[in-house]
Amino acid sequence: MAADNDVLSKDPDWWRQAVIYQIYPRSFADADGDGLGDLKGITSRVPYLASLGIDAVWLSPFYPSELADGGYDVAHYREVDPKLGTLEHFDELIAALHAVGIRMFVDIVPNHSSDQHEWFQAALAAGPGSPERERYIFRKGLGEHGELPPSDWPSHFGPTAWDRLPDGDWYLHLFAPEQPDFNWDHPEVREDFLTTLRFWSDRGVDGFRIDVAHALTKDLTEPLRSKAAFIDFDNPLTGDDVLFDRNEVHDIYRSWREVFNEYDPPRVAVAEAYVRAERRMLYARPDSLGQAFNFDLLVSPWQVETYRTVITDNVLLAEGVGASSTWVLSNHDKVRHASRLALPPGDDGTRWVDSDGHDPEIDRDLGLRRARAATLLMLALPGSSYIYQGEELGLHEVADLPAEALQDPIFKRTGELHKGRDGCRVPLPWTTSGPSFGFGTAAPHLPQPSWFGASSVEAEDGAEGSTLELYRTALRLRRQFATTEAFEWVASSPEVLLFRRGNGWHCITNFGTAAVALPEGTLLVTSGELDDGLLPTDTTAWVAVEEPSATS
Ligand code: NOJ
Repeated sequence: MAADNDVLSKDPDWWRQAVIYQIYPRSFADADGDGLGDLKGITSRVPYLASLGIDAVWLSPFYPSELADGGYDVAHYREVDPKLGTLEHFDELIAALHAVGIRMFVDIVPNHSSDQHEWFQAALAAGPGSPERERYIFRKGLGEHGELPPSDWPSHFGPTAWDRLPDGDWYLHLFAPEQPDFNWDHPEVREDFLTTLRFWSDRGVDGFRIDVAHALTKDLTEPLRSKAAFIDFDNPLTGDDVLFDRNEVHDIYRSWREVFNEYDPPRVAVAEAYVRAERRMLYARPDSLGQAFNFDLLVSPWQVETYRTVITDNVLLAEGVGASSTWVLSNHDKVRHASRLALPPGDDGTRWVDSDGHDPEIDRDLGLRRARAATLLMLALPGSSYIYQGEELGLHEVADLPAEALQDPIFKRTGELHKGRDGCRVPLPWTTSGPSFGFGTAAPHLPQPSWFGASSVEAEDGAEGSTLELYRTALRLRRQFATTEAFEWVASSPEVLLFRRGNGWHCITNFGTAAVALPEGTLLVTSGELDDGLLPTDTTAWVAVEEPSATS
């Protein structure tokens, strides 16, 4: 059991306005010189994390894995991948973080395991019809000889979600074939995840990010129903979809909540559930996971009306269930927002490579200006913000990785049509020069471009106007001002978003082409330079406006 810590408060609501920094462990810092980031590398960078002013880190999977899907193929849920360290290294990391007041989230991947997991290996060995196969989803095929998949269900990584074994059985994998789906009707599966949640909670973990939280329970009644698309956002999803967001999934999370509440303060959790906003909030109920990722900004174009609607809706929806909203602009699955926000309209970046495998021209300065404006806007919103390693450096996507370097299963499984997500997972630059820009001593597992040095921590640390200093300033001010969750729109011209947060804190973003006046008050921070005292296009400012006192 982790020791009690005086630095961290016991406030059960600490998460409501927290800033959580996502670490993709293989690409953060490499202490043992094998080209892969590791836990000791993260520990060595705790002073850097503390200098940012974040409240928590979230570690993407660091469990034993063959890396068929960047670690989201977990072979053992209560171990550390030997390539990344040991459980002792994990304990050292969490102690170092807690000592400087930073909490820790870990990723839980309950929909599927790795095909190397001992249960799947046992299922393969035991053969068709065995009880070992009951923990996963095995079926006979269709067709005269069972040669056709049991249903038309697609894999998220394309094409089919079924693979056939030499013994004739098919098994389900909504993601890569190396990620077989668990059968959540099996009591041992349910029990084992409760053990896992207690295992990490006992080691001091403060929160959990739940991978594809909406996929665990499926309609497996025979004959299997057809499923044309992976997620159909035009379909209202009533809780009776074949594969996703079925009502009974919440029974699982209610049992998890009971485990979380065994701890003081209760452990927190956030659902990754790609479902419509109203349904997403079911996962954010206090008797469930408590929060759900709102990815709306992650997929929104840089347009004033879209941002206004997303913000209005999500603040209200979260309030409706007693949660606070979450906000995300970048993560390990999407094109980094410094690049994404400069993509041509209608291009979501998923095929972001031309037929020669090159990065199409984007205006990088425009992208970074918008990214800084979007970040400062996000950090002024009520609720918690999730930031992704490297965005505090204003890093762009590495869009032109050579095909032979790509690791994401999406690349191969889409016939090399979709490049996948490696471009946002390139190891971080810590220094302006030197081997792997300070990431480690060996060649990094994904090649870094020459321009990384100019966006390194060394280049930006203490540099006036750098994106790193912008994040530090914003997070320091946020701590001072975000003492309530109050939020209110203030009337403004149509191309401008202006809102008030309490304590006189105002945030203004100019999406229009002409510079606009700032509200009167003390200028706290801007995402870009002012133009003769006016707020230029694609720029955000925070202003402290004196509020009328009750007696005046
Ligand atoms: C969502 C994760 O964010 C992604 O990286 C992963 O590929 C899938 N879930 C499958 O686990």
